[in-house]
Amino acid sequence: MINTSSVQENEVVLQQILAACEASRLLETKQFMQHGTTSVYQHCIAVARVSCMLADNMGLSVNRESLIRGALLHDYFFYDWHVPNPEHRLHGFTHQKRALQNAMDDFALTTVEQNMILRHMFPLTPIPPACLEGWVLCIADKFCSTLETARFTNNTFARAFYLGPGEME
Ligand SMILES: [Fe+2]
Ligand SMILES: [Fe+2]
Repeated sequence: MINTSSVQENEVVLQQILAACEASRLLETKQFMQHGTTSVYQHCIAVARVSCMLADNMGLSVNRESLIRGALLHDYFFYDWHVPNPEHRLHGFTHQKRALQNAMDDFALTTVEQNMILRHMFPLTPIPPACLEGWVLCIADKFCSTLETARFTNNTFARAFYLGPGEME
């Protein structure tokens, strides 16, 4: 059963971090599609919400701020990976390093947040995350990517992650 109060607390922290990111390039990720009709920006917010939900429901002791910040920045790149371009060949194997570099250019990240971003493509890339927050992000990212690729994001269940609490019409 979903604990409504922890969902609301997570949302407050998520909105605080999002507000702090407004001066960064995060909003630029709205213009790039991630999977199906979901933008990179929407994907990252959904991954942050699902990460919190997973951590809460499994009773994991994680740093919530790092979990949210790492999830929001895990795909911090600025191109449409569907458009063929030698600059972003092998996107699945390279974008995590580019996201980390971009994020470090714009934010002071903890070692946990850096590791989350760099290792989030495990097991496609062979080195696993070195922190619990990174494992949670890995799972949440695959979950959201599957929903988006299957164009399941208009489903009521999925919209809870994509629109957020209080935004369901
Ligand atoms: Fe990614
Ligand atoms: Fe992702």
